[in-house]
Amino acid sequence: MKKIGVLTSGGDAPGMNAAVRAVVRKAIYHNLEVYGIYGGYSGLISGNIKKLELGSVGDIIHRGGTILYSARCLEFKTKEGQQKGIEQLKAHGIDGLVVIGGDGSYRGAKALTEQGFPCVGVPGTIDNDIPGTELTIGFDTALNTAIDAIDKIRDTATSHERTFVIEVMGRDAGDIALWSGLAGGAETILIPEENYDMNEIVARLNKGSERGKKHSIIVVAEGVISGVELGKELKAATNADVRVSVLGHIQRGGTPTAADRVLASRLGAHAVELLINKKGGRAVGIENNHLVDYDIIEALAQKHKVDYSLLKLSKELSI
Ligand code: F6P
Repeated sequence: MKKIGVLTSGGDAPGMNAAVRAVVRKAIYHNLEVYGIYGGYSGLISGNIKKLELGSVGDIIHRGGTILYSARCLEFKTKEGQQKGIEQLKAHGIDGLVVIGGDGSYRGAKALTEQGFPCVGVPGTIDNDIPGTELTIGFDTALNTAIDAIDKIRDTATSHERTFVIEVMGRDAGDIALWSGLAGGAETILIPEENYDMNEIVARLNKGSERGKKHSIIVVAEGVISGVELGKELKAATNADVRVSVLGHIQRGGTPTAADRVLASRLGAHAVELLINKKGGRAVGIENNHLVDYDIIEALAQKHKVDYSLLKLSKELSI
C-alpha cells in the first residue's frame, strides 16, 4: 500500500473534517501518499482527485461540514458507475480507499470491496444508525445542537404554557430523538423503532395537566411522522395550545464537540492502520470505548440497535 484515497459521502456530519485530518496525517506519518476525492462518489467517477499534504488538513479539526465536500450519488449505485470509480482510482495509482459516511456510503464501499478494491468504512453521520459501532461521528454534536434548541423551546413553552412538538432528524432511526429527548427532559419521545399510540400521548398530556403541569415537550423523530402532522393531530385531540418546531439541517452543522473530534481522530487513524496491514473490506467502529472493525459486508447485513432501556427510562422519568 503506497497511495490511499479518502472521501466523504452522504449527509455531512460535524467531525468529518477531524476524520479526514486523521486519515491524512496518519497516512503521511507512515510514509503513504494521500489523495482527497472531492464531492463523494460523484467526484470519484469524474476524477476530482487531488493530492493532500500535511498542510491541506491544517486548521480543520474544529470545523463542521467537510472540506472534501459531499454528495448523494445515484450513478454510483450502478455497476457502470462503480467501474468508472475503480478506473479513476487505478489511473491515480491509489491502492486503498477510506470512505467516511453513512449507510449509503457504506454500500458504495461494500460494492467496491466486492469488486476487489480495498476499502475501509468510517461511520460519519448524525443519525447514529450504522451497524458495527455504538457511536457515529457527528451524533454527539447533533445531539448537543438539538438539546440547545429544546432547552430554548422549553423556556418559551413554560412562559406561554404551551405544548411543543419538536421534530428532529434521523431518517429511519430514532437515536437523535431518543437521546435528545431524554437529555432535554421531554414528556414524550416518538421513535420509528416503536409504534406510537395517539391515545397514550393524549393520556400523558391530560395526566400532566391534571397535576398542574402547564407545558409539555414532545420530541418526534422525522421517521415517525412529520412534526406538523403530529401537531395537527394533537390540536384536534386535546385542548392544548400546540406549537411545532422542525429543527432540520441546523442539526448537521456547527463546531464538532470534543467527543466527536476524538472519535473521528481514532476511527480515521484506525482505518489507515487497517489499510496498511492489507485489511481492506472492513468497517471501523467503537464499542465499550475500544476500536473495533468488522467485515463491511457482514456489518451492513446487521441493523443498528436502538437502546430501548433509554426509552423505558425516559418514560419513567417523565411521569
Ligand atoms: O443522514 C443524515 C440526514 O441528515 C438525515 O437525518 C436526514 O433524513 C437526511 O440526512 C436529509 O438529507 P438531505 O440533506 O439530503 O435532505
